[in-house]
Amino acid sequence: MSERAHWGSRLGFILAAAGSAVGLGNVWKFPYITGANGGGLFVLIYLVCIAAVGIPILLAEVVLGKTTQQSPVPAFRDLSRPASPWMSFGWMGVAAAFILLSYYAVVAGWTMHYVVAAIRGTFAGMSNDDVAGYFGHVATDPAINLGWMLGFMVLTIGVVIGGVKGGIELASKILLPALGLILVALAIRAATVGDGFDRAIDFVFGFHGDQLHAGGVLEALGHSFFTLSIGMGAMVAYGSYLQRHDDVVLTGFIIGGLDTLIALLACLVLFPITFASGFDPAQGPGLVFQNMPIALMQLPGGTAWTTVFFVLLFFAALTSAISLLEVAASYFIDELRWSRPVAAIGCGIAITLLAVPSALSNGDAVGGLFNGGVASVTGANWFDTADWLVSNILLPVGGLGIAMFMGWRVTEQARYEGFAEGASLKNLYVGWLLLLRWIAPAAVVVVFLNALGLLDAILPESFLHGAPPADAEAAGTEG
Ligand code: PHE
Repeated sequence: MSERAHWGSRLGFILAAAGSAVGLGNVWKFPYITGANGGGLFVLIYLVCIAAVGIPILLAEVVLGKTTQQSPVPAFRDLSRPASPWMSFGWMGVAAAFILLSYYAVVAGWTMHYVVAAIRGTFAGMSNDDVAGYFGHVATDPAINLGWMLGFMVLTIGVVIGGVKGGIELASKILLPALGLILVALAIRAATVGDGFDRAIDFVFGFHGDQLHAGGVLEALGHSFFTLSIGMGAMVAYGSYLQRHDDVVLTGFIIGGLDTLIALLACLVLFPITFASGFDPAQGPGLVFQNMPIALMQLPGGTAWTTVFFVLLFFAALTSAISLLEVAASYFIDELRWSRPVAAIGCGIAITLLAVPSALSNGDAVGGLFNGGVASVTGANWFDTADWLVSNILLPVGGLGIAMFMGWRVTEQARYEGFAEGASLKNLYVGWLLLLRWIAPAAVVVVFLNALGLLDAILPESFLHGAPPADAEAAGTEG
């Protein structure tokens, strides 16, 4: 068997792992959930979740990968025993990778379509309603969805075939810095649009009374898993290409810090423009695909800004998708001894097939065929069901598994060596272990109960979701 591949440099690992973390979650999802949850306090709680739960689990994954030099499934076996039930968390991660990438590729396909549409000047001269309606067309048209999803999958497969150094690391070294530059340019541009910037800063970092409730707290925690790419083994796989003397602690903080920085910067791009154009920050998932082209097209050089913005989204999606396919492919490479090209293409084809129902599920014609079955059980279409399953079930359970495994199951020696070898911040070990053993599992259990709706049964409705609209009648008495 050939020797395990390794990253070419520490920077290469940082960029690849940060590339996995920085994705549609940062630029598309974080701003709109921040908007929906009223800004300030939600952002603060999200930061606490990243620091107290997300980064400890991220470190646990990287330590597991680095120590075993194996992809997730065999990694769990190596630090426990053959046929250990802990390996289920590895398999679950592989399954999560298949499902996550199958709908992620659909949204990524939209970003590619928008790049091309923007370059061709599609949005020039469109009314605001037309731009908003255009998203409806993109989201529902079967040919657009299938074609661009397929194109995106081909690119992703191509990078993974290139291998650790020649594919993943190389792509990340180009795409992530480019993404950073575009984001900074957009932020500078956004900062000079009317008074939108001051209002955005106030919205993101200021406290405005009582809009946030427990439901929002739990959303912040769930999102901290998604955005850091934890809970499904992506960081185990990437960690397994580190050398044993590599510092995981400092690099873990850098990755978590970069991810957070980019999410906040994305808000400082989206909100000034949203406010300056008079849009509602709480308008939901359309924030990126509807408001941004409308708002950016109003700037001088609008076509260029709009193009660049969707290039940013596309780059963010690609570096994340690579890590998802790598989780799936590395299982077949490490466990079944498939060659890398066969594993990448085989998994890629399977994921593309699984993506078909997601790609069609927002349109009514063919989509109804797939949605009917799922919807009768979950009440949501295929796409939304897949997202719900991954974000609210598979990632939290996977995160819980990795925290419990690294916190309680492995030997003290393996854990300490994996953490401390080569690390400059060794003395954080005790704090890390405390968070891993107690805080992270407790937090995950709370998210999980919430996902199953159990907290709704226990806690009063007004605590979880704020005052119900019916209270509007009583509002007069409160002033
Ligand atoms: N972190 C990515 C994002 O924010 C999504 C992702 C999750 C990627 C899990 C890989 C693994 O978009």
